[in-house]
Amino acid sequence: MIKVAPSILSADYLNLERDINKIEKDAEYLHIDVMDGDFVPSISYGPGWVKQIRKISDLILDVHMMVRNPERYVDEFADNGADLIGVHVEATPHIHRALQMIKNKGVKAEVVINPGTPVEAIKPVLYMVDQVLVMTVNPGFGGQKFLPETVKKIQQLNDLKKSEGYSFDIEIDGGVNNETVKTAYNAGATVAVAGSYVFNDENPSSKVQAIKDATK
Ligand code: DX5
Ligand code: ZN
Repeated sequence: MIKVAPSILSADYLNLERDINKIEKDAEYLHIDVMDGDFVPSISYGPGWVKQIRKISDLILDVHMMVRNPERYVDEFADNGADLIGVHVEATPHIHRALQMIKNKGVKAEVVINPGTPVEAIKPVLYMVDQVLVMTVNPGFGGQKFLPETVKKIQQLNDLKKSEGYSFDIEIDGGVNNETVKTAYNAGATVAVAGSYVFNDENPSSKVQAIKDATK
């Protein structure tokens, strides 16, 4: 069964604690989308949000940095309570250093690839990561349609896990629901981010369960 990471991007910010409580018992991760208005067009929220959320949730706080040169903020996110920090290979010429900085803080390190980026671009750092995030939409907005072409990259990463003996999790993000999750899960995805599918429903925990049920 896949692990689920509801994205607060689609939650009600003025009632964030209430919305997090709704999924706290069913989900494993909480996905926090940090957008800088440069690497992606939108601006969302920063390290201060992680600090506040840490006080009210025991979920694995999964910080997805859609930020150019993320090295500038890694320490602050770690100090504020992130359990896992993801950095895009497209966002820095120093992806190895960025991942090293995350690991030096004792936080789980994740490398992220956009739909237009091949797996080859992250091969040199796969030995050092705890998780790989395969974007299944172009980052920047919730509510987009799942891109099925990205699934072959999940398969490719799963094959590398076997041939090289890696044990990283494979996360998917964008357009995930109880249907789209199936092919990704069969290809090797182990964690599913879902924003609009979960929080646009009156009963978010039932949507978390629906994703899990689809991968039983
Ligand atoms: C997109 C973000 C996603 C977003 C997913 O740039 O990285 O985490 O919240 O939203 P849905 O599940 O609605 O596609
Ligand atoms: Zn995300």
